[in-house]
Amino acid sequence: MNTPYLAIIGGSGLYAFEGLENTRRHAIDTPYGAPSCEILTGDFSCHRLAFLARHGEQHSVLPHRVNYRANLWALHSLGVRRVVAVNAVGGIRADMGSGTMVVPDQLIDYSYGRYSSFYDTDNAKVKHVEFAEPYTQSLRQDLLAAMKLAELPVIAGGCYGVTQGPRFETRAEIARMRRDGCDLVGMTSMPEAVLACELGMDYACLALVSNFAAGCGDGQAFTVEEILKNLSTITVNVPPVVLALLKLQGAAA
Ligand code: HPA
Repeated sequence: MNTPYLAIIGGSGLYAFEGLENTRRHAIDTPYGAPSCEILTGDFSCHRLAFLARHGEQHSVLPHRVNYRANLWALHSLGVRRVVAVNAVGGIRADMGSGTMVVPDQLIDYSYGRYSSFYDTDNAKVKHVEFAEPYTQSLRQDLLAAMKLAELPVIAGGCYGVTQGPRFETRAEIARMRRDGCDLVGMTSMPEAVLACELGMDYACLALVSNFAAGCGDGQAFTVEEILKNLSTITVNVPPVVLALLKLQGAAA
């Protein structure tokens, strides 16, 4: 099959996909405008793969300004039906310090003012997607199996609290999120997850913890520079995980 089936959406610190060969760049116009950047498709160790940098290849698109609808629509138009989203996050839970990788199973959406549905025109049919499980369980399980195959440690499960950004949170906000049941905080899992759901795509998140959230851990303040430095050491794990996932996917096909 020539159309890519699995796509990786790269978050902060992941703007290209190491090892993707025979790449083609797709500048796609959608009814919702332009995606964050061109989508790359290519071969990754004999498997077709698509890659999109959520914040653009130069990290020029802030989380609250990402055109999530265009990104998901464009991937879908290329034939993508499975999406692994890579997201930089802050850890709230004590065992989720910098360097931890988590495959969350729940989210709480604190973001606002983002276009969060494809069904919002005047004459749109009423459409309420089922979203009790915001991340596709089968893809989560495949991702966890891939982590195991790649011999990388991972925490299976956790609740991702999605904030509006682009600023980081106050200590009080994080304390409230902890009381709400959030284990992680980031700015990008919504509306991405629900838009994938509306398009009928499988969607799972690989959360890379780059720092303890405000007031967590030793309570030290963090800088964006530290976050990016930490991410550069964690993002190297992504290609081996994706390779393992593609192998498992190929074996199951
Ligand atoms: N808060 C929100 N988003 C983030 C953080 C954080 O602490 N770290 C990385 N992305």
